[in-house]
Amino acid sequence: MIARRMGKLDSSGIRKVFDLAREMENPVNLSIGQPHFDIPPEIKAAAIDSINQGLNHYTVTQGIPELREAVMAQVFPKGPPPGQGILITSGTSGGLLLAFLALIDPGDEVLIPDPYFVMYKHLVNLCDGKPVFVNTYPDFRLTAERIEPCITPKTKVLITNSPANPTGAVWTETEVDEIIDLTQRHDLLLISDEIYSVYTYDGPPVTAAGRCDRLLLLNGFSKSHAMTGWRLGFAIGPEEIIREMTKLQQFSFVCAPSFAQHAAIEALNLDTSNYVDEYRWKRDMIWDGLQDKYELQRPEGAFYAFPKVPCGTGQEFVAEAIKNNLLVIPGEVFSERDTHFRIAYAADNETIEQGIEILNAMV
Ligand SMILES: Cc1ncc(COP(=O)(O)O)c(C=O)c1O
Repeated sequence: MIARRMGKLDSSGIRKVFDLAREMENPVNLSIGQPHFDIPPEIKAAAIDSINQGLNHYTVTQGIPELREAVMAQVFPKGPPPGQGILITSGTSGGLLLAFLALIDPGDEVLIPDPYFVMYKHLVNLCDGKPVFVNTYPDFRLTAERIEPCITPKTKVLITNSPANPTGAVWTETEVDEIIDLTQRHDLLLISDEIYSVYTYDGPPVTAAGRCDRLLLLNGFSKSHAMTGWRLGFAIGPEEIIREMTKLQQFSFVCAPSFAQHAAIEALNLDTSNYVDEYRWKRDMIWDGLQDKYELQRPEGAFYAFPKVPCGTGQEFVAEAIKNNLLVIPGEVFSERDTHFRIAYAADNETIEQGIEILNAMV
């Protein structure tokens, strides 16, 4: 009855954790990958306004023109390079699904830096593509030296995510240049998932936008404005690719939620630096609190830390953490190996302090 392709989606890792977590009554929860603050009131007001004005019908598939223009102006303050299209998507996830469906033929290889955001591997598998993992342990840097040996004549796409989930790594200008140079030499398409771009703590965000022609930029409002439930993102890239993704959107999502599109124009005008400052503080709490006892790369962005487990596997460590009332996620959910665990520090300071205390007591 069920299509064979569904057999390629394996959610057992995360399911095991949630099965264990179900027993927990009031856990110290450092597992949630979304901002802990509510949507800013100005954005809520704009959404409510648009609903009250009756802007509740389908929008054009590619997204309302005012939002498309506002996003383009923010991504390319000096004007977009020629031949760039934009599609407003149902979350960055919507953009990822449409991109892979539009680009991947059976057998095409997609380079995925490991550790990775869970969805990449599954979407490539769903399209009958082959995920090829680029090992970035132990420092989680993505260098040409690490990528190049993984390239074959079948390689079509490299997907990168900076600031990164689950490691908190942020590529430097030099690294981005090196990655782009490599994709150009090998004629690959670069998909740059920059959903955490506002959360960079040690310098301005480094974007791949405008640096090369064969680039599909994905971003969204889930993390920057806590709009996870409103499902809004965007894809910017060569017109030819955006046209195909738009065609698919027409026959699937139809359009991104209308009220969220209207409210997002307000979101783009909002200064969110106070949230970023708050999360920088939380990053420092995690780093200062854990670096003595755990092997940990200093997180530079997003709201995650990815320490190595002191012994055993990530699953075993997380089972033990759960016995101590702490919920974190084992590394195998984000990786081909199970040697680390993910902390999501988008939580109030008291929860973070409790988490640090439990983790230090566990070593
Ligand atoms: C790296 C990365 N990309 C994409 C997404 C999906 O975000 P959205 O809510 O915009 O679909 C997430 C969400 O956790 C993420 O971590």
